[in-house]
Amino acid sequence: MSMRKAAASAPGKVILFGEHFVVYDKPAIVSAIHLRARVEAWIHNQPGVWVGNRRLLNHPASRAIEYVFEKTGYTSGVRLKISSDIPSSVGLGSSASISVASAGTASLITLGRIDKELVRIAASEGEKIVHFNPSGIDTSTALYGGGGLYTRSRGFTPIEIPLKKILIIDTGKTRRTGEMVKRVREFMEKNKERFNDILTREEELIGEVIDAFRGLDFEKLGRLMLENQNLLREVGVSSMEIEEAVKLALNAGAYGAKLTGAGGGGCVICLAEEDKIQEISKIISRRFKVYLTGLSAEGLREEEI
Ligand code: PMV
Repeated sequence: MSMRKAAASAPGKVILFGEHFVVYDKPAIVSAIHLRARVEAWIHNQPGVWVGNRRLLNHPASRAIEYVFEKTGYTSGVRLKISSDIPSSVGLGSSASISVASAGTASLITLGRIDKELVRIAASEGEKIVHFNPSGIDTSTALYGGGGLYTRSRGFTPIEIPLKKILIIDTGKTRRTGEMVKRVREFMEKNKERFNDILTREEELIGEVIDAFRGLDFEKLGRLMLENQNLLREVGVSSMEIEEAVKLALNAGAYGAKLTGAGGGGCVICLAEEDKIQEISKIISRRFKVYLTGLSAEGLREEEI
């Protein structure tokens, strides 16, 4: 049964290990975070997706919604209100969570329920507008929530992540994911053999992370984070600000730190002992904006409207 109005929310994400290499079908470990985007939608008598008096065109949210409309045979339009506490263009999956929440409201309006598979495909269509060759990790995490092991060919497998909180450092420098993905492709084209070795090591490293999760070996996780950061630097997606944030985190007593998401700026995640994390966060906040946020947050959900 269709609905006249609907609201849905979806979480942002942090990639704990494996960004970029996931584009080449290597596994990555990801978690939803307790920062969310919320979308409210009302049936509108004109076709298309509207925000106020403006028709939204060529936008991930409108593309995701239009995909749901095409598949469900809905011919009217919707008016949207989008709000989010996820900073954009810094690697926390803000765009994907808006696409997923938007597709969720479209599913509610047209079908009266959330069809997760339809939302997944619709949100991926939306993400193609802003990403170059997206792996689908952002949309899957916003949709399913929790923690996951993600590969492009096998999708999202839920896993238990034994970390309550993660410290996110925002370097304040925004960048485009698509450009960073292209930068890695250029590295690969110029350094084929080395890139294959990096992919092989990254896959082993993810296996070691899973073992360290099981053994609650946080020191080892910290070392693996730094190794992952070294590989990301080598393929060209670190930056001066990222290196500074990583150093600051280590000097403040963190187990490890690395960029998260596309890099080139954006955010750095920092792993630290639970009783030290507040203090480390305070030290870093003198230089950068920080978010101390919970992990394994709930995925797409219907909200009251
Ligand atoms: O858009 P971001 O910054 O959250 O990065 C997405 C992760 C990448 O691995 C860099 C790209 C992808 O599609 O997986």
